[in-house]
Amino acid sequence: MALKQHLDEKIRFEQQVDNSRSYVLPFIEQTMPLHGGTRVLEVGCGEGGVLIPFAERGCICVGVDLNPLRIDIANDISAKEVAAGKMEFLYKNVYDADFLERFKGFFDVIILKDAIEHIPEQEKFIPYLKNFLKIGGQIYFGFPPWYMPFGGHQQICEKKITSMLPWYHILPNFLYKGILKLAGENEGVLKELGEIKDTQITIERFERILKKSGLKVLNKQHYLINPIYKYKFGLQPRKQWAPITHLPYLRDFITTCVYYTVG
Ligand SMILES: C[S@@+](CC[C@H](N)C(=O)[O-])C[C@H]1O[C@@H](n2cnc3c(N)ncnc32)[C@H](O)[C@@H]1O
Repeated sequence: MALKQHLDEKIRFEQQVDNSRSYVLPFIEQTMPLHGGTRVLEVGCGEGGVLIPFAERGCICVGVDLNPLRIDIANDISAKEVAAGKMEFLYKNVYDADFLERFKGFFDVIILKDAIEHIPEQEKFIPYLKNFLKIGGQIYFGFPPWYMPFGGHQQICEKKITSMLPWYHILPNFLYKGILKLAGENEGVLKELGEIKDTQITIERFERILKKSGLKVLNKQHYLINPIYKYKFGLQPRKQWAPITHLPYLRDFITTCVYYTVG
């Protein structure tokens, strides 16, 4: 039973804009002043909605994604801003030599919103992002930790039972896949859920990678209820209770989303 925003790109776009305006931009702004000319890159930009509030501030925005359909939609929806040179959406791999050559040391802010959990080899990828930062630049990450009840992204499943069942994504692979197959999930869903299972980004591993990459945490916010659940499930966002945020491993199971800015 996929949620309606997984099926309708315009709804997804509007939710990206609203969530970014209310939560992502204000969070980034706590450590980085945003003004006309601030250069912002979003990796995994999808339909490009997250960047809209930044473009409204006068920031120069570049979105990059490995899904060409989503980049086409981004270019269509924001055609005016793209024509005006305020936004650019690219179907590109950030590891491509021409991407690195063009954008080396170029950005003030890099955004990965609900993207890092989709990207393999995070130990290599996160330090690589530093190549695109200006001196003093910052990277924002927002993602659902792996061990939270729906950390496998099972809400994208087409069947009600598999989309609503918590925590079964942490079962061994053969059992997890077996349940998904038995429920009748299609190959596309199996592939996407398999990719998320391969990356398994927990709060602890993420913080270890930051440390190894020489990136300092400048700001963080953990959520008991992810701000995007407002759209998905009609739930009010709720910050995590502070003492829980200091309990390694346990916090992963009951924290549905984390925001970090690092630099
Ligand atoms: C869940 S969507 C998030 C879209 C948007 N950032 C948002 O918050 O709604 C994750 C996006 O990351 C993209 N993606 C996954 N791996 C990527 C990579 N290595 N480089 C760029 N984009 C990637 C996917 O194609 C997808 O559009």
